[in-house]
Amino acid sequence: MEQILQKIIDDNRQYTEYGNVATYIPELRKASKNDLGICVVDMDNNIYEAGNCGKKFTIQSVSKPITLALALMDNGKDKVFSKVGMEPSGDPFNSIMKLETSKPSIPYNPMINAGAIMITSMIKGKNNADKLNRMMNFFKNLSGNENLSINEEVYMSEKLTGDRNRAMAYFLRSEGVLTENVEDVLDLYFKQCSIEVTVRDLARIGVNLAYQGVDMLTGKRLMDEEVSKIVKTFMVTCGMYDASGEYAISVGIPSKSGVGGGIMGTVPSKMGIGVFGPSLDEKGNSIAGIKVMESISEKLNLSIF
Ligand code: DON
Repeated sequence: MEQILQKIIDDNRQYTEYGNVATYIPELRKASKNDLGICVVDMDNNIYEAGNCGKKFTIQSVSKPITLALALMDNGKDKVFSKVGMEPSGDPFNSIMKLETSKPSIPYNPMINAGAIMITSMIKGKNNADKLNRMMNFFKNLSGNENLSINEEVYMSEKLTGDRNRAMAYFLRSEGVLTENVEDVLDLYFKQCSIEVTVRDLARIGVNLAYQGVDMLTGKRLMDEEVSKIVKTFMVTCGMYDASGEYAISVGIPSKSGVGGGIMGTVPSKMGIGVFGPSLDEKGNSIAGIKVMESISEKLNLSIF
């Protein structure tokens, strides 16, 4: 397996040249464009890695399915889906356009920024510190990594420059959809996006989703089976934003991307996959990471369709 993964990395590293690291969050400019790494964790807890697999990067939008799971468990699906839709938007991840034209003014889905901000606003806790604590514990349990922490530089960088997200959140509040304090919600959202992970952390979260929300190592249920199904379905329909349709055809694995360069894949009843390649395409997905996912899907016959 490790040889297969190494060949996949070697064959696809060339594609890192065709994209660029994210620059709209200034701190993300520091990433090394040619990095490419993968980790696979299977249902027997075998761990296979290749490429730049030790590198840490911020989770960014890969966090969105995880906070969705927490918000669903905190509020139930009726409440959550009264505030966020279930349909792909067909627009870029940071698009504002449809917020005003759709009635009621709820974001199309929980994977675009506007939807994810709404989801973060629904995480329960006595105060923001308590909400952060609950959120971090959920990420730690799902990844099996007690040491997960926030990259303070990326968090500050995004907090200082995240005006587009701020605009969406204030709009949602003006419509009465978002009811919490906007700056508190955004602070939590920026922290959520700045959690530092490795491909192994993503593969572990992926395998626990593949296991219907039961922690493979401890046997403990971390999320309801129904919640894990909802989350994986969104990963298929919206996980790669306005590239989700093409990706479903070429890869066929429920996946979520982030502008830090991460992709998390979950192959039901088989394995979790973490990929890192910070060179992005114009839609904000890892350009070589998608190629790696195509290769592994083809070589191991992993498409769910
Ligand atoms: O809110 C943002 O713009 C970032 N923190 C996350 C966006 C992201 O990862 C989009 N993914 N491809």
